[in-house]
Amino acid sequence: MRFFLGLTGASGAIYGARTLSALVALGHDVGLCASPSALQVAGHEMFQLGPKPDVADHEIMALLLHRFGQGTGSVELVHQSDLTCRYASGSAKVDGVVISPCSMSTLATIANGSGRNLIHRAADVALKERRKLVLVARETPLSEIHLNNMLTVTRAGAVVLPAAPGFYNLPTGVAALIDFVVARTLDQLGVEHTLGTPWGIPAPETETP
Ligand SMILES: Cc1cc2nc3c(=O)[nH]c(=O)nc-3n(C[C@H](O)[C@H](O)[C@H](O)COP(=O)(O)O)c2cc1C
Repeated sequence: MRFFLGLTGASGAIYGARTLSALVALGHDVGLCASPSALQVAGHEMFQLGPKPDVADHEIMALLLHRFGQGTGSVELVHQSDLTCRYASGSAKVDGVVISPCSMSTLATIANGSGRNLIHRAADVALKERRKLVLVARETPLSEIHLNNMLTVTRAGAVVLPAAPGFYNLPTGVAALIDFVVARTLDQLGVEHTLGTPWGIPAPETETP
């Protein structure tokens, strides 16, 4: 299957990175696009790098790909300003679009149909073509504006999947909490996987990715 994965500048860059590694490891093809804010947050949260411009966007993307882009599937890196690529058009089919993590800014832009970059456009295309769109939204607390935007995109056909891991499987570490959200994301995309454990069985201890 082929998916478009957008990374935006909400906290929780690891959710998107781990989604990438799971999809590629499972043999799926991924069109990957990161906003400048996504790379800034990823650099800080995942690699403890200083603010831009000290570290260039492409250096952070290289780190992400090296650590999370390995598998039998492929990764096609697409720039956020490239509105000529296949993901900007409804005629080129993808099996799903996922934005993880999804900032409130990107959520608002999608809700208003006023997209400025490829991530917004890919989401817009998914909605108009009635394809799967999963938004792993992250912010807390939520304002009325955020909630209204979530309702708008849900009514338009998107799935809002808050980055809110459950604790009922008795997770034994941060990796299990991350994979809880990633597993729910893959479920929504219709991807078979073995992440997570069934209800009532403690998740095995794994290293933080
Ligand atoms: C360290 C850091 C953490 C952030 N966390 C969030 C967040 O959890 N949710 C959110 O909506 N925005 C968050 N932001 C703000 C977004 O990055 C900002 O609104 C940005 O313009 C989003 O742009 P994008 O949607 O194009 O990536 C954070 C910013 C920084 C620097």
